[in-house]
Amino acid sequence: MNILLADTAATLRLGITLGQSLTAGSVILLAGDLGSGKTTLVQGIGQGLGITESIVSPTFTLINEYNTGRIPLYHLDLYRLETAEVIGLNIETYWEGIEVMPGIVAIEWSERMPYQPDSYLRIILTHGDDGTRQAQVTPFNSTIDLENFCR
Ligand SMILES: Nc1ncnc2c1ncn2[C@@H]1O[C@H](COP(=O)(O)OP(=O)(O)O)[C@@H](O)[C@H]1O
Ligand SMILES: [Mg+2]
Repeated sequence: MNILLADTAATLRLGITLGQSLTAGSVILLAGDLGSGKTTLVQGIGQGLGITESIVSPTFTLINEYNTGRIPLYHLDLYRLETAEVIGLNIETYWEGIEVMPGIVAIEWSERMPYQPDSYLRIILTHGDDGTRQAQVTPFNSTIDLENFCR
């Protein structure tokens, strides 16, 4: 499904809908160029979860955890890593939810992942030539009802 994102508020709104409706254990794999709105979308997810802290890009910290919302949010950014380095992070810890409390896992630069979870939502953010942005949302083995997200 393709969703037109006319402005920053639209990207935030898509995130808010996701944050309000996704269940613990959901994984969102984000892809798209620098500046395409990946962090903005995760900020919306945080709002939808009712997280009170401000969500900042984990480009340097790799992983930021937020525990003040409905369920935890684990926000990862693999931009600075090579695929081989990602292997050592054991990122499956976050979606298995055994050692950490189950929550929503949102991963920027998920192209760098050497493996994926069994089920996830892929969101590819693109810039059009005319400056418009789009989200291409594809569920993999996921029962998410996408009709909720285009309103
Ligand atoms: N749909 C949109 N239309 C226009 N600008 C947007 C949109 N979504 C986000 N932005 C803006 O784009 C900039 C970069 O967004 P960011 O979320 O940091 O991108 P990324 O994490 O993909 O590098 C921010 O200033 C943000 O407000
Ligand atoms: Mg970012």
